[in-house]
Amino acid sequence: MDLSEKKILISGGSAGIGKALVDELIEKGARDIAVMGRTKRKMDKLEERYPSANFLKIQGDVSQLVDIKNAISAIDEEWGALDILVNNAGVVSASLLENLSDEDIISQININLTGLILLTKHALPLLKESSEGTIMNLSSGLGYIAMPFYSVYAATKSGVKHFSEAMRRELAEYPIHVMTVFPTATDTPMMETAKVDRAMDSPEEVARVSVKGLLEKEINVILGGQQRIDDIKENFEEPLKFDQKVAKLFDSLQVRAKEHRSM
Ligand SMILES: NC(=O)c1ccc[n+]([C@@H]2O[C@H](COP(=O)([O-])OP(=O)(O)OC[C@H]3O[C@@H](n4cnc5c(N)ncnc54)[C@H](OP(=O)(O)O)[C@@H]3O)[C@@H](O)[C@H]2O)c1
Repeated sequence: MDLSEKKILISGGSAGIGKALVDELIEKGARDIAVMGRTKRKMDKLEERYPSANFLKIQGDVSQLVDIKNAISAIDEEWGALDILVNNAGVVSASLLENLSDEDIISQININLTGLILLTKHALPLLKESSEGTIMNLSSGLGYIAMPFYSVYAATKSGVKHFSEAMRRELAEYPIHVMTVFPTATDTPMMETAKVDRAMDSPEEVARVSVKGLLEKEINVILGGQQRIDDIKENFEEPLKFDQKVAKLFDSLQVRAKEHRSM
């Protein structure tokens, strides 16, 4: 795939994994990149980093339908085309369910799942005209294996996983590759309030394997190595055995999640 000819939209491309994805895509030849985010200042900084790239900055919130429609209209007017959609914008609020605010429950679902689905829906007419399109959805390790304190976040991320799978099958007759990325703990602004007691992946590494997966048309890019694959298998085949492992981690997970909120 020649990225220099592709028109790309990435939600949440102004920070963390999204920003690293922008870096990696440009490194691999991309020039035309639309970035959607709520904070204009963060998007302006990208332009300063890459004066030669052609950025389309779209200030908007993926949980607002009007912003989604405006974003796609802006791309249609500017480029009249879209080849790659990266659904990366996401938020997290961790807590025992009964202590999670109703607002944080609703917002996590609206941003991480409903917004991702609606942005995909409204981008599809342009994507279907591409001769070589891609939809890359950012799920999470928690989209495969759910954990206490992350019930709502995990629900949104498993929803992303299933949505990707359905869309891949629904779009089979089109030259649109649908893929999902499952990062584990990654050192980004989202994790600043989490107390993680082990080394995290770097956003650059997540971006590197994600763009490699895009170019090689992988379906699932799963971070966390062979241990993660083994855990997914065990969680599927022997959930009660896996429950016992999680029970032993309950207290340390509680410490990790206590202040973890990035909305
Ligand atoms: N970091 C991890 O450990 C980890 C692990 C697994 C999966 N993930 C997933 O990877 C993705 C990126 O995470 P990250 O760690 O890079 O997050 P991050 O550092 O918090 O960056 C999130 C980006 O999304 C944008 N964003 C947030 N809410 C938005 C909204 N409603 N509308 C539009 N843009 C919005 C933010 O910009 P504004 O605030 O300006 O809108 C920012 O550019 C997320 O989907 C996350 O769930 C992350």
